[in-house]
This record gives sequence, structure tokens and C-alpha cells, in this order.
Amino acid sequence: MIEIRNVRKSFGPLEVLKGIDLTVATGEVLSVIGGSGSGKSTLLTCINGLERIDSGSILIDGTEVHARSTDLDKLRRKVGIVFQQWNAFPHLTVIENVMLAPRKVLGMGKREAEEIAVRQLTHVGLADKLGVYPSRLSGGQQQRMAIARALAMSPKYMLFDEVTSALDPMLVGEVLDTLRMLAREGMTMICVTHEMKFAREVSDRVAFFHQGVMAEIAPPDELFEAPKRPETRQFLAATH
Ligand SMILES: Nc1ncnc2c1ncn2[C@@H]1O[C@H](COP(=O)(O)OP(=O)(O)OP(=O)(O)O)[C@@H](O)[C@H]1O
Ligand SMILES: [Mg+2]
Repeated sequence: MIEIRNVRKSFGPLEVLKGIDLTVATGEVLSVIGGSGSGKSTLLTCINGLERIDSGSILIDGTEVHARSTDLDKLRRKVGIVFQQWNAFPHLTVIENVMLAPRKVLGMGKREAEEIAVRQLTHVGLADKLGVYPSRLSGGQQQRMAIARALAMSPKYMLFDEVTSALDPMLVGEVLDTLRMLAREGMTMICVTHEMKFAREVSDRVAFFHQGVMAEIAPPDELFEAPKRPETRQFLAATH
């Protein structure tokens, strides 16, 4: 599980996370919603150790992410992250892009890496694009390739940061379907999203972030139907 305890993080004078407490259980799907600048992306980058924190702690299966003794490379294999946009290596084919991390980071042989890449690309519906160059993929296909690339490391946790928000509306559905599939399979996921319908359908809980504070967290029906905090109500009213 992921345990976030009283995490504070500032960029210069700006306090972006103001004491976040949050536990995500294994198998849970958590959606994170909230206005621009509320700290959602920062939280994800702190969870996988891309950003330092100022105080508090984040534990992944009991290992403290920001402890000096923690092997971050090893920890990151457990925690896949997919961003709004991933710049694939343009000179490598889709399958080569997905094989890269297993080969370089895990030291896997070519055969095995290929097998895993085919499996994961098939899983996200890209079995017919293996030998294609990324520039020939649609935005939705590129995002699914990015998901396959993360899955190729066999992560236990997946963090998604607005993976559909750079997409043409027509292509959002196919990427959300891929996330739904992972959720059904029992992947532990934190999804920062603007897709309220998705958050509602797929999540076990939804967290609303407001100005660096987790203002509210509840099961989706409760958060969307009966938000307790005025900030949540205001945000939801603005997004409908
Ligand atoms: N590396 C950085 N250096 C300085 N300030 C930063 C940095 N990264 C983020 N910030 C600031 O921290 C605040 C929180 O940013 P963050 O990206 O976490 O917000 P967010 O909730 O993901 O917003 P959005 O919905 O727009 O993606 C913002 O005010 C942002 O400008
Ligand atoms: Mg963000």
C-alpha cells in the first residue's frame, strides 16, 4: 500500500502540498480531482520520488520513498507513472520503445523483453502497431503505448497524470477504456483526472484537492452527490 503522512512540499515561497495524509490500499483505484495548481501532479511526482518532500513521509509497501537508504530505481520499478504526454523515441519502433526499459533497467535479454512488449502492447490493443514508428500513431494510440511501456516493468502501482487531457475528444474513450481494464484487473491506481464520469465509474474513492490541501475524500457517489465542503461543491458546479 501507499501511505502518505503529513507531506509538505514547497517550491520556493509557494507551499504546494500543505500536509497531505492519504493511504491507498492495494487494489484500490483512487481518482484525484481539483483545480489547476492545487498540487495534484506534484503529489504524484513525490510518490515516485521524482520530487523531494520538505517534511512528512511517503511509504510504499513500508519503504520510505525519500529515505537516503532507499534504492529509488528499484522502487520506481514498482510504481509506473504515465503523464499527459510522453515523448517516445522517434527513431525506435513501438515495440522497441516498450522494450527499452526492461532491457536497460532490468537487464533483460532481447527475447524476453520482446515477449513482454508484445504481451503489453496486445493488452492495450496495439498488437497491429508493433513495427510502426510512434509518429504514425494517433494521440490515443501513443498514450496506450505509454501505458504499455509502464506495464512492461510489471509495476505494482500505477500513477496516471491527466493521461487524456492532451487528446482529441474522439480519442479520450479508448484510453479511458484501457484504464478501466487495468482497474478491473485489480491494478492499484492513482488517477489524476478531469474526467468526472470516469472518476465516478471507476474509482473506489475520489480525492478533491484545493490549494495544496486534500479538502475532501470519499467514495464517488458520496463525493459527487453530497460533497461536504463548499470548495468541492463549487469545483463540481464549475465542471458540469
Ligand atoms: N518545478 C516547479 N517549480 C516551481 N513551481 C512549481 C513546480 N512544479 C509545480 N509548481 C507549482 O506548484 C503548484 C502546483 O502545481 P501542480 O503541477 O502540482 O498542480 P496541478 O494540480 O497538477 O495543476 P494542473 O491541473 O494545472 O495540472 C503550481 O502553482 C505550480 O506552478
Ligand atoms: Mg497537473
